[in-house]
Amino acid sequence: SSTIEHSEEHRGAFSSRKVFIFAAIGSAVGLGNIWRFPYVAYENGGGAFVIPYLVALLTAGLPFLLLDYGLGHRYRGSAPLAFRRAHRSAEGLGWWQVAICFVIAIYYAAVIAWAARYAFFSIDKAWGDDPEGFLFGSYLKAGDPGIGLDFVSGVTVPLVLVWVAVLAIMALGVQKGIGATSMIFIPVLFVSFIALVIVALTLDGAAVGLDALFTPDWGALGETSVWIAAFGQIFFSLSVGFGIMITYASYVGRRSDMTGSGLVVGFANSGFELLAGIGVFAALGFMATAAGTTVDKVATDGLGLAFIAFPAIINEAPAGALIGVLFFGSLVVAGVTSLVSVIEVVISAVRDKFEMSRVGASMAVGVPAALISITLLGTTTGVYVLDIVDHFINRFGILLVAVVSMLALSWVFRKTGILREHLNRDGSVHVGTWWHWLIGIVAPAALTFILVNELIDNIR
Ligand code: PHE
Repeated sequence: SSTIEHSEEHRGAFSSRKVFIFAAIGSAVGLGNIWRFPYVAYENGGGAFVIPYLVALLTAGLPFLLLDYGLGHRYRGSAPLAFRRAHRSAEGLGWWQVAICFVIAIYYAAVIAWAARYAFFSIDKAWGDDPEGFLFGSYLKAGDPGIGLDFVSGVTVPLVLVWVAVLAIMALGVQKGIGATSMIFIPVLFVSFIALVIVALTLDGAAVGLDALFTPDWGALGETSVWIAAFGQIFFSLSVGFGIMITYASYVGRRSDMTGSGLVVGFANSGFELLAGIGVFAALGFMATAAGTTVDKVATDGLGLAFIAFPAIINEAPAGALIGVLFFGSLVVAGVTSLVSVIEVVISAVRDKFEMSRVGASMAVGVPAALISITLLGTTTGVYVLDIVDHFINRFGILLVAVVSMLALSWVFRKTGILREHLNRDGSVHVGTWWHWLIGIVAPAALTFILVNELIDNIR
């Protein structure tokens, strides 16, 4: 263990448990909370979705989060190194996560850049009367990559700026870069998002939107697709299975309580999700009322929600520009802390493997990622390709490594015993034997079920 001690000073560390918690919340709270959760909940039973959601959170999401924390904190390494220390044949699992994170970074950065651009557009409603015919909207609507120069010049400059900012954060290191950014960004995000929700709730028709979101459809509980959606949302939203939480946990002081931290992060993430549901549906209720139609006609998620529906809302609403700046600004702030976390998975792995300096590894990883991102996403064809890649990564790549790593650690390497002891060493919240069963059986079974269903869906 003397080599572990030795490398520790060089790897970097968070200065306190609080900074770690902020960074972990920064990773978890991202685009998925703001533009994915509200629609997933609405489509899958509305108010009744709370049941599968909580079941997924408590039986699989939090237990898996604690497994990642235990692994990183006990073995003190990036994903490949932590897995290798758990068992010498397991390093590949970590590299698989590294590869996935590299790909995610390439397009996550682009979405942040578009959101930043649209925050400025909101001020003078640059899209005019027809957001659907404007820049990103026209691409999404027509699916036609022929928009050309406007699009390229509109997105390339912000994309370059995003990459420069993110590379600077990475080069500054674990505490001064990632930690310090999270300590500033997370409070800013919570305050501005709460302001957005308050403004949205004052709009005419807000209650109609909330009604649509929360009215329970109890029949939905009998549908498998609803349960699949709940587990899928929880895993993506908590950022578990990507190697992120392993990496961050390896930067936490040896005497820190990890179990308690996990619960704080999990509940903060879900709390933010609920807040986003309220804000987004209040705004959609306003839009439906203004257009004299129903919420189900205007409800949507992802790129369509951000770059078509919100511009339309901003056009109509009394405090439109304010709503736009708060909404797109929140996407940027939430997105940056998540982007930083995926890139850190790659940088940390490269550093552990090749013993590179912080700045050297940041450049070795960041410059190629930035160049690919800028080349590919400066064109609309790139957006289309990445949509497909994203689909497969999120559905198969992550679920596969999640199931394999849980089963391997529980049964093949029998490491959950060690990790449980480790998680119970400090702090007042302890995991029991039940944790082993959730990780070894319940969570992998649920994920395998999802995986098989997705495969069947894709073959059909
Ligand atoms: N948890 C993030 C969100 O909810 C998504 C994410 C997943 C970010 C994986 C980084 C890595 O948006």
